[in-house]
Amino acid sequence: MKDKFRALVVREADGKFLKQIEMIDEIGLRYYGDKEVTETIIEVEYSGLNYKDALSASGNKGITKQYPHIPGIDLAGKIVATQSSKFKIGDEVIVTGYDMGMNHYGGFCEYATSPDKWIVPRPQSLTLKEAMIYGTSGFTAALGVLNIVEHGITPESGKILVTGATGAVGSMAVSILSKLGYEVAASTGKESEADYLKSLGANEIIDRKTLVDDPQKGLFSSRWAAAFDTVGGPSLSYILKCIAPSGIVTNCGMITSTKLETSIMPFIIRGVKLSGIAASATLMPKRLKVWEKIAGEYNIHPGEDFYDVVSLEELPEKIDLMLAGKLHRKVVVKL
Ligand SMILES: NC(=O)c1ccc[n+]([C@@H]2O[C@H](COP(=O)([O-])OP(=O)(O)OC[C@H]3O[C@@H](n4cnc5c(N)ncnc54)[C@H](OP(=O)(O)O)[C@@H]3O)[C@@H](O)[C@H]2O)c1
Repeated sequence: MKDKFRALVVREADGKFLKQIEMIDEIGLRYYGDKEVTETIIEVEYSGLNYKDALSASGNKGITKQYPHIPGIDLAGKIVATQSSKFKIGDEVIVTGYDMGMNHYGGFCEYATSPDKWIVPRPQSLTLKEAMIYGTSGFTAALGVLNIVEHGITPESGKILVTGATGAVGSMAVSILSKLGYEVAASTGKESEADYLKSLGANEIIDRKTLVDDPQKGLFSSRWAAAFDTVGGPSLSYILKCIAPSGIVTNCGMITSTKLETSIMPFIIRGVKLSGIAASATLMPKRLKVWEKIAGEYNIHPGEDFYDVVSLEELPEKIDLMLAGKLHRKVVVKL
């Protein structure tokens, strides 16, 4: 382990939050507030940028309560120190979610500490870089697809709707479902991205403005066998009412609203299931299964048009672009 190493540190000063690259040491890394962290140390090779990181880097106390802080909810690297019986020095590992990068120093640093219960061994057929191209958004997409598959929905069951299809989660979900042989209807607000979505495997493009609920109605005609919804709110209510009997809607997001006002009819007349996704809280057995799927059957081998690799020094600018809604590709950070 180096004596001094680089970290993206966010500091609070006069109510403002400044993010800059600083040199820190092992003592600095092991102390979070007045708590000493005695866990495994990972030399981070790659991290990835998520919206939660951008919020943490700009002082959102719903994400990170205490500053100074090092964000980065995703990281992949090699173990350089551990007292764990489950891992040894040199093991290549992945950490996503839990409290990593939120209230625990995260992956925007050359080294990170982690409790061993958060650590996933790198699946054999996935590189550390590939793991971070997927990161939490790819993991969320794969988890939602697994919910649909495990519910018994097959390509023969009918079309699957994906909402927020051009987003980080939605685009991965479209690609994975298409790879598995499902017919995909991709809902988007961006007409100009129709060709891009078709290149990912979407068979039909739906204008998201047309997913409109009528609160007076309990059901609409069946349109989809299942749906992967990243948006929530009134369109989720409409989607639930359009799912075929015994179908499933899996939801990860609340872009338009945290509230869901809908009818009980899809649940008790058609037996539709609404299944929530909480990527960061996924239990370890399921987590391992999802990473194995990503490394194998679900691997879409994202090409270079899917992501940009940036240095730690280039990251603050990318965070500002993400907050301004101007980032169009996944940002992978090479430490
Ligand atoms: N629960 C979990 O574990 C978990 C994990 C990861 C992410 N999330 C959440 O899932 C959601 C999607 O994440 P993401 O990383 O894919 O986000 P993202 O990259 O920002 O994409 C979100 C997409 O939603 C669509 N959208 C934007 N504004 C909208 C609006 N007003 N109405 C309807 N659609 C709108 C856009 O797609 P179109 O233009 O193509 O419609 C946009 O590309 C976010 O809410 C995120 O916080 C949850």
